[in-house]
Amino acid sequence: MHTATQERIIRPAHNVLGSLRLPGDKSISHRYGMLAAFAEGTSRFTNFSTGADCASTLACMEALGAKVRKLEDGTVEVTGVGGRVTPSSKPLDCGNSGSTMRMISGLLAPQQGRFTLIGDASLSRRPMERIRKPLELMGARLTLTEGHAPMLIEGAPLHAIDYTTPVPSAQVKTCVLLAGLQTAGTTTVHEAVRTRDHSELALRAFGATVTRTVDAVSIAGPQTLHAIDATVPGDISSAAFFLCAAALFPGSSLVLDSLGLNPTRAALLDVLSALGAHIAVLNLEEKNSELVGTVQISAPPEGLQSTQISGAVAAQLIDELPVLAAIAPYTSGGIRIRDARELRVKESDRIALVAKNLRAMGAEVTEFEDGLDVPGGQTLHGATIDSGGDHRIAMAFSVAALRAEGDTLIQGAESAGISFPEFFDLLDRVADR
Ligand code: S3P
Repeated sequence: MHTATQERIIRPAHNVLGSLRLPGDKSISHRYGMLAAFAEGTSRFTNFSTGADCASTLACMEALGAKVRKLEDGTVEVTGVGGRVTPSSKPLDCGNSGSTMRMISGLLAPQQGRFTLIGDASLSRRPMERIRKPLELMGARLTLTEGHAPMLIEGAPLHAIDYTTPVPSAQVKTCVLLAGLQTAGTTTVHEAVRTRDHSELALRAFGATVTRTVDAVSIAGPQTLHAIDATVPGDISSAAFFLCAAALFPGSSLVLDSLGLNPTRAALLDVLSALGAHIAVLNLEEKNSELVGTVQISAPPEGLQSTQISGAVAAQLIDELPVLAAIAPYTSGGIRIRDARELRVKESDRIALVAKNLRAMGAEVTEFEDGLDVPGGQTLHGATIDSGGDHRIAMAFSVAALRAEGDTLIQGAESAGISFPEFFDLLDRVADR
């Protein structure tokens, strides 16, 4: 299917000012939506993600028998299937969403019936062996198409396993935990890098017992989930675009409230502090075990400095790396990114596209297999940006465009809607031109 792409012109700004409350976190919304649809009873969510990816999760779960209603006030109401899905005669369309496909496969592998999972062209290029391996170790029957979607799952009873994830991936961890939830015995996932723990926290919120040690998480199945009412915290990966934009302009001041600040997601705040940005966190609260708070940011008068991102932090910051790389030319000493090979298998090859688009704006950049070196002290000019249909590339370069000389044209701007349909409107609201 061919979808028309939209272009968007981004004019330079001279400051970033204001306060925003952002739509709900994409990762948490996926999990709340999927677990609610699987649980017993009716859950209600406020500030659920407005992105197309989470709509894909809800649509798949509806096709499997859950009931989803969007109320007039925006509340999303989900009535679950009570632990037993109804196989759908049509393929389950995961759209652009890797989280949907990888997590739902764990939920479906122990169910009865045949399930076909498909996705768009980008998702159909993304690696799925990483979920086939552990699921097959559990006894699942799963057929891929040359390592990718379309994927066929023939549900079967599984057995518990101890599994060490070869690449840091919260999606793979979740896939195994969702299979373990329905499987007799204790399933354990060991991870060398602690990836986002929203699944562990959400499973507990829905009433499951999940245990964790320093480097492993375990679930003893089978367990039943029960409906909850919850407010989804604002998405810190969406906030990243605004935090980076504010960090670029001495004199800026931006406040983001009700923002998700789960420590496995908030490494960006440390990186921006290391670059010299002034950051304050206020009103910290815990909601369904997720930390939520207000973040105030202003840029240092002398401008941003330099930093290196590698090792575990690179994995924890994986979704924020494109925007950090896109603002790196405006720092004094540049940003060096390593150990981020996973960027090559996201919605696009994000290392290649960041390098290509920085060069289009006149920047010098060196590309590595697992990262980028972006020198600081550079002046960028407006250019035509190829987003590659990747939401985070479109938004990252809209931020870089704020400090460029001349206007920038973002091709494929509609891709922002995958995670953050309100992005351009909110950018216009806080960009002082
Ligand atoms: C996500 C995990 C990350 C991230 C993605 C969302 C999640 O992917 O890049 O945007 O919600 O679990 P991996 O788990 O593949 O690293």
